[in-house]
Amino acid sequence: MKLLFINGVNLNMTGEREKSVYGGQTLAEINEEIKKHFSDDECEFFQSNIEGEICGKIQSAKCDGIILNAGAYTHYSIAIRDAISSVKTPVVEVHMSNVHAREEFRHTSVLSAVCKGVILGFGKNSYILAGESFKL
Ligand code: DQA
Repeated sequence: MKLLFINGVNLNMTGEREKSVYGGQTLAEINEEIKKHFSDDECEFFQSNIEGEICGKIQSAKCDGIILNAGAYTHYSIAIRDAISSVKTPVVEVHMSNVHAREEFRHTSVLSAVCKGVILGFGKNSYILAGESFKL
């Protein structure tokens, strides 16, 4: 199975920013753990702070499933929502934190309705749980 893990805006700062929320591991370290977990699968990792690049990556994806943590874009990017709607590849929305236990503006996702499902609140394991969902 081929899985594509996409991280959006500010996720490159994981391990440095708001450690009490997102933990102390870098995105590279988290990706390494994901790769080990899915050692029988092919994993690709992509991170961008640029909305259009994320849309392009979704449009050109050739994989069985996309695991997407769009970061703050989750809450307002109609462009990313439309990119998800444009492709047949299923997308699972992911958040490390429980966004519903945080500020009200994080309670809204413009992506969830066009995603296959949503996994949130399990820290770095949210990515693994989302990846596993494609195998059920
Ligand atoms: C996040 C939650 C978003 O609200 C926030 O803007 C992020 C990270 C998460 O993984 O918990 O950047 O997507």
